[in-house]
Amino acid sequence: MSYLSGKNIVLGITGSIAAYKSAELVRELREAGAEVRVVMTEAATSFITPLTMQALSGKPVHTRLVDDEAEAVMGHIQLARWADLIVVAPASADFLARLVQGRANDLLAALCLATSAPLAVVPAMNTGMWEHPATQDNVARLRQRGVRLLGPAEGDLACGEYGTGRMLETGLVLQQLGDSFDTGQLSGCRVVVTAGPTREPIDPVRYISNRSSGKMGYAVAQAAAEAGADVLLISGPVALTAPQGVKRILVESAGDMQEAVMADIDGCDLFVAAAAVADYTIDRPAVQKLKKRARDLQIALKRTPDILAGVAALPDRPFTVGFAAETEDLEVNARKKRLSKSLDLVAANLVGQPGTGFDADENRLHVFWEGGSRLLPTAPKQRLARELVRLIADHYHNRRNARETHAKDSA
Ligand code: CTP
Repeated sequence: MSYLSGKNIVLGITGSIAAYKSAELVRELREAGAEVRVVMTEAATSFITPLTMQALSGKPVHTRLVDDEAEAVMGHIQLARWADLIVVAPASADFLARLVQGRANDLLAALCLATSAPLAVVPAMNTGMWEHPATQDNVARLRQRGVRLLGPAEGDLACGEYGTGRMLETGLVLQQLGDSFDTGQLSGCRVVVTAGPTREPIDPVRYISNRSSGKMGYAVAQAAAEAGADVLLISGPVALTAPQGVKRILVESAGDMQEAVMADIDGCDLFVAAAAVADYTIDRPAVQKLKKRARDLQIALKRTPDILAGVAALPDRPFTVGFAAETEDLEVNARKKRLSKSLDLVAANLVGQPGTGFDADENRLHVFWEGGSRLLPTAPKQRLARELVRLIADHYHNRRNARETHAKDSA
């Protein structure tokens, strides 16, 4: 499975003779299903033209920090937030030095500073420059900060020498970038995720539902699959396709969703309830279409089963994560919800505000657990989901390790 599919990638190009390889890289990234935006330093434009990169990426190329036209299409901060990953290929010695210093003197350096996305650099330079203690110090510091270094490789260099400094072949860059999305944190785990709204039928043609788009739950399912889990997504009606590598069961009502969850929960390690399940359903849905007659119509509603609380109450329950959609008093309500439903973790978000929550592409989550909490700042839902899954996996493994230690001690 290609983990690059559907990912937003900023490809930064700096001044190096290897810049021609970026043309191949952008093509291969797109073939792997990634969306690519190219950002070039001024020096890079001496080696390859922005026009070439524009034709290959199918998008305008960004070159300058202050550029009204480019800012109008996608501002640089927006670009920093849009990216799921920034890869600088080729990365010159000068660029690595600027990265270490945290400079923001051109668009690419500013993006690397502003983004919260992972950063990978693919160095390319003459052997002497690569082996110089200044560059080696810079590389060590970047590694410490979590920047991924891909290459350089050994071989013939453009300057006529032989040694280390060649830009890694694009096929290897692609493979290693793909691997960077596969954390393996949940390999061997079975995960069940609920997502989307439910539809509670009034009669054969009408229903009660809500504004959930399913985007957050689908992103969680995808992130869990990327972390190596075997994922079952139980989804209400949405306009989304199942993420790659995820098995999906489509359901309609809260009752159907509960049935599907309970049929598959046995042996599951983690349960994440991201669905916006209707709290009430129609007591007796009409068998035939209701005709308009009286001025008013009363429809009797009854409570739906709480799927999440039901799973949390199972004797051999999985690690259980719920969501809380709140319009006010987020922290108090989320903590109450975690306790009342006996959840391991609750991820709360404010809804009813433009741009986040239901049906939006971005979200912000405040995650609570016993004795702690963490704020995951506003980000595209896919990135947020990856951070949430990382947090969930950490807590899940901590709990499992603690149990294993306890079992050994009492044996
Ligand atoms: N949930 C569920 N089954 C239900 C209702 C909710 O599994 N019948 C899950 C949701 O998937 C979500 C969490 O419970 O993970 C939300 O809890 P809920 O108490 O329904 O939250 P709100 O709808 O925000 O509740 P309230 O209306 O009381 O604020």
